Amino acid sequence: MRMLVTGGAGFIGSQFVRATLHGELPGSEDARVTVLDKLTYSGNPANLTSVAAHPRYTFVQGDTVDPRVVDEVVAGHDVIVHFAAESHVDRSIDTATRFVTTNVLGTQTLLEAALRHGVGRFVHVSTDEVYGSIASGSWTEDTPLAPNVPYAASKAGSDLMALAWHRTRGLDVVVTRCTNNYGPYQYPEKVIPLFVTNILDGLRVPLYGDGAHRRDWLHVSDHCRAIQMVMNSGRAGEVYHIGGGTELSNEELTGLLLTACGTDWSCVDRVADRQGHDRRYSLDITKIRQELGYEPLVAFEDGLAATVKWYHENRSWWQPLKEAAGLLDAVG
Ligand SMILES: NC(=O)c1ccc[n+]([C@@H]2O[C@H](COP(=O)([O-])OP(=O)(O)OC[C@H]3O[C@@H](n4cnc5c(N)ncnc54)[C@H](O)[C@@H]3O)[C@@H](O)[C@H]2O)c1
Repeated sequence: MRMLVTGGAGFIGSQFVRATLHGELPGSEDARVTVLDKLTYSGNPANLTSVAAHPRYTFVQGDTVDPRVVDEVVAGHDVIVHFAAESHVDRSIDTATRFVTTNVLGTQTLLEAALRHGVGRFVHVSTDEVYGSIASGSWTEDTPLAPNVPYAASKAGSDLMALAWHRTRGLDVVVTRCTNNYGPYQYPEKVIPLFVTNILDGLRVPLYGDGAHRRDWLHVSDHCRAIQMVMNSGRAGEVYHIGGGTELSNEELTGLLLTACGTDWSCVDRVADRQGHDRRYSLDITKIRQELGYEPLVAFEDGLAATVKWYHENRSWWQPLKEAAGLLDAVG
């Protein structure tokens, strides 16, 4: 199988590429992997060091929005797994144009090329944030989309474009929507790596609003395993939820991180809430469980301990990123 992975130098995409080429995803042992990545601030070749010399790996630096580059790269691939996106909610509230460009137009450019080149399957990786916020219960795959922030609105737009190409032109599309991921190689602007690395440096950590916002946390390896199951066995034109991690309020998460890092609440700053901050996300994952036999494998306690340990041991990975972003002396 010849697989094109967009955004493969980012947090989740690089986990998917490493797991594929390290033979950790049954059924993908022989896959040839091409990564197409623009290397924005969150794309990092260091995330792919362990596969850089792999004989079945190719890296192409390029923009998913550029039709010429995309056309050239897509040719000859059987499957596209599309991770490339602008992914940080706070940045989307500051400047949304890049989000619309990459997330909607970039996806559209890839879909057109996939159709033109007869790509057999297009896996569009999306998020629970497209549904907005839910006070109780969980969303199913049929719940109407109601995004609140520009990031989520742009992802919702891209999901709808992907599904429209299936319905109108018969492109074999599957869409996955996942809950919050955590694990190694996550750019240190996101809450878990930001808090852990700030604490390691004796800096303060910012907790938004009343800290009661609730999220489901899933280890990135479980997310990637589920994507591969959907890629292999999901039904064309369908959406699959991926989650089943651990639901926590931001305050509860902060408490667990402080304990895991051996410190206390004295380093926490309560800061003004994010605009339009969704209170709670929750996905019903019955469909992927019943159709594909997916279950998350990493217990949150174990995954968090391993993640904290990873950031502790990999300062050389995150310190240059924080320096470049001016995050070393900020609260975040
Ligand atoms: N992080 C989460 O918790 C989470 C949860 C659910 C879904 N997702 C989705 O998973 C995907 C990956 O998220 P992530 O957390 O790994 O993000 P990330 O920001 O770590 O990685 C994004 C990657 O895309 C690349 N990229 C950005 N714009 C590009 C462009 N125009 N052309 C080519 N490459 C481009 C970046 O260089 C980077 O390597 C996104 O689509 C996101 O919406 C993320």
